[in-house]
Amino acid sequence: MSAPDFVVAGSPVWLGPLAQTLLPWLQEHRAAYSGLFGMIDGNVYTHWGEAVEATMGQAPRYVMPAGGSYVPGGMEALKTLDTCQALWGAMLEAQLDRRGLALIFGGGALGDVGGFCAATYKRGIAFAHIPTTLLAMTDAALGGKVGLDFRGIKNAVGAFCQPVAVFADPTFLQTLPPREWHSGLAEVVKHAYIGAPKLLQYLQQQPNLMNTPQAIPPEEWQRLLRASIAVKARIVNEDPLERGLRALLNFGHTFGHGLESYFLRLEQPITHGEAIAVGMLCELEDPSPADLALLRPLLPPVPLAQVPWPEVWASMQQDKKNLNGQVIATIPGQTPYSLRKTTLTAVEAEHRWRRSLEQIGQA
Ligand SMILES: NC(=O)c1ccc[n+]([C@@H]2O[C@H](COP(=O)([O-])OP(=O)(O)OC[C@H]3O[C@@H](n4cnc5c(N)ncnc54)[C@H](O)[C@@H]3O)[C@@H](O)[C@H]2O)c1
Repeated sequence: MSAPDFVVAGSPVWLGPLAQTLLPWLQEHRAAYSGLFGMIDGNVYTHWGEAVEATMGQAPRYVMPAGGSYVPGGMEALKTLDTCQALWGAMLEAQLDRRGLALIFGGGALGDVGGFCAATYKRGIAFAHIPTTLLAMTDAALGGKVGLDFRGIKNAVGAFCQPVAVFADPTFLQTLPPREWHSGLAEVVKHAYIGAPKLLQYLQQQPNLMNTPQAIPPEEWQRLLRASIAVKARIVNEDPLERGLRALLNFGHTFGHGLESYFLRLEQPITHGEAIAVGMLCELEDPSPADLALLRPLLPPVPLAQVPWPEVWASMQQDKKNLNGQVIATIPGQTPYSLRKTTLTAVEAEHRWRRSLEQIGQA
C-alpha cells in the first residue's frame, strides 16, 4: 500500500478512499491482532452501513444509538460514562482480549469517547480512527487526545493515547449535515490562523466556500484538508504532550468550551466548531473586519445575547487548561507557529464577550 500522507505523533495518517487505505492496511496487519471490534456512530451506520460492513465482515461491533432526527452537536450528549459502560460491556461480551483492535467510525465525539474506552479496556487495546466528519478528519482524530465530558464540563476526564492509524476518507463528507460542515470549517480556519497564512488568505477570498462548504468539489476538499492537517501534524509532532506549542491548538477553546458546556447543560447543544468560532472572535486581541467576515458564517444560529454570561464564565473557570486558578487563553502570535498566552480576569473576559456580541450585532 502507499506511504501515509502524514505521520502524527508516530501514527500514520492516510487521506483517500478506504478501499485504497484501510482495506489494504487491514490485509497487511490483521494477523497482528487477535480480533476486531467496531465502534460506529449511529448516523454513519445509517448512511454508510455497506461501507462499514465491507470492512467489519462478521466482527462484533457496537453501533451508537442514532436517536432519530439530526440534532446539531447531538453526539456530544453521548460523550459520557454511560457510553463508556456500553462500549466496555460490548467489548467484554465480544471476548475481545488485550491484543484486539478497535475500529472507530465516527466524528470527534465518538472518536474521543471510543478512543478513551479502547485506551482503558484491559489497560489499553489498539484502536484506529476512521473519521467521518470534516472536524474529525482535520483535527479530532489526530494527536491522540481521548476523553469524555463529566458533570457538564467538556473533556473533564481523558488521556493521551495515539491511534495505531487514521484513515480519512472525504467520501463520508457527502452526507454531512450543513451545520457540521461549518463546524469542521471552524477548525480549518483555526489551523489557518495559527500556522498557514496562505490558507488564511485563500479562505478570506472565498466567501462561497465559507458560506456553503458542501458545494465545493471533493478534490478541492482533499487539498484543503491536506493544508489544514499539515498544521496540526507539525504542532503535535513538535509537542505531543502539550508542554508548550500544542496549547496553540486551543485557540478559541477557552471561551468556546465555556459556551459549548453551557448549551450542553441546557440540552440544546450547538456544534463544537460553532462554539470555537465564537471563542476565536472573543480571544483575538483586536479582530479586524476581515476576521469578522471570515468567522461570521461559522457562528451558531442562536441568540447569543440571551446566554447568561456568569454561566459561561463559571465553565471557563473549570477549564483544564487553567493553571493556579487563572483562566488562560492561548492565541496566535505575530508569526506562524508562535503563541501568546493571555490571562483573563473576570472583567477582561466579560469585556471580550460583550465586545464580540456588539461586533456581530447581537449586543
Ligand atoms: N481529540 C481531539 O483532539 C479533538 C479535537 C477537536 C474536537 N474534538 C471533539 O470532537 C467533538 C466534535 O466532533 P464532530 O464535530 O466530529 O461532531 P460529532 O462527532 O458530534 O458528529 C456530528 C454529527 O454528525 C453525525 N455524523 C458523523 N459523520 C457523519 C456522516 N459522514 N454523515 C452524516 N452524519 C454524520 C454524527 O452522528 C453527529 O450527529 C467534540 O466533542 C470535541 O470536543 C476532539
